[in-house]
Amino acid sequence: MESLLVARNLRKSFGPLTAVQDISLEVKPGECLALLGPNGAGKTTTVEMLEGLQSPDSGTITVFGKDLKNQRSSIMHEVGVMLQDTQLYKRMSVRETLQLFASFFKESMPVDEAIALVELQDKADTHLLKLSGGQKQRAYLACALINNPRLLFLDEPTTGLDPQARRMIWDLLLKHKTKDRSILLTTHYMDEAEKLADRIAVIDHGKIIAEGTPQNLIETVCGKQILCFRFAGEQSHEHIMSRFADELPWVRDAALVGETYELTAGDQVNRITELCRVSDRLGLTLDQIELRRSTLEDVFIKLTGRSMRDD
Ligand SMILES: Nc1ncnc2c1ncn2[C@@H]1O[C@H](COP(=O)(O)OP(=O)(O)OP(=O)(O)O)[C@@H](O)[C@H]1O
Ligand SMILES: [Mg+2]
Repeated sequence: MESLLVARNLRKSFGPLTAVQDISLEVKPGECLALLGPNGAGKTTTVEMLEGLQSPDSGTITVFGKDLKNQRSSIMHEVGVMLQDTQLYKRMSVRETLQLFASFFKESMPVDEAIALVELQDKADTHLLKLSGGQKQRAYLACALINNPRLLFLDEPTTGLDPQARRMIWDLLLKHKTKDRSILLTTHYMDEAEKLADRIAVIDHGKIIAEGTPQNLIETVCGKQILCFRFAGEQSHEHIMSRFADELPWVRDAALVGETYELTAGDQVNRITELCRVSDRLGLTLDQIELRRSTLEDVFIKLTGRSMRDD
């Protein structure tokens, strides 16, 4: 299947700072690709180059088989864009704003249909100024959807929203995505990437450091589950870590987070009894024990040694 979007070796610097080092990516029809990364990773710079709003220093971008640099105006008729920081004229109503957006495109859906899509019928005649954060995001999303785009770019579509507003936007996007309509979104929310994306590109310091389906990334980088536990009383963590290496050969990775040990392996459900046996043998008393599912946050920590949120 031919990709709707192909970007090769994108690079962009701002003075001495290289925001995007070397990014290549593709989006296929019907696919949602999430660029997941911490603040300053280069997500907005990347997506704005793909939208034609910033020019790369080097690299190529093809959208619908056409070169973005030379054919941007014809490409944009079938593209929707929701920026990270949208500044629209705040004294226009939702309906007026959508009428303006609809006028930019050769083909667009009726304005009332777009308003209904984001469930803003009650606020159709309200100025953007008077909308709540979640309502504003929905209005901006309606603007991005007005031309029924084949390719939709969303830069942090739900940042700052409450869980209910986020879920509403997620539902809408899942409905929008069909076999020939694709989405490229950026986010630093793991749950958003897991919920919406068919494929995730983890981005850090302007580079893609891992790519795959959410499940595939978790399984290959971390293992499906993490076994977390503590021991009662004082002990030498160093000694315990070295004994784990000797006694539990199935452990792929052992980390100490505060006082809690975190062991990763492929499948650990059956390993708890082994851990209990080894603890007994070492004269240690298990204090708390929990088997939890690995997350994309674990993937990020494993790949970078840092937490996505604290960066
Ligand atoms: N116009 C600019 N001039 C100078 N530096 C910039 C400019 N735009 C971005 N940068 C820098 O480039 C880097 C990447 O920024 P970018 O906005 O792409 O990150 P991001 O991943 O979108 O972050 P966030 O999650 O905070 O939105 C940052 O260090 C930022 O300060
Ligand atoms: Mg950004």
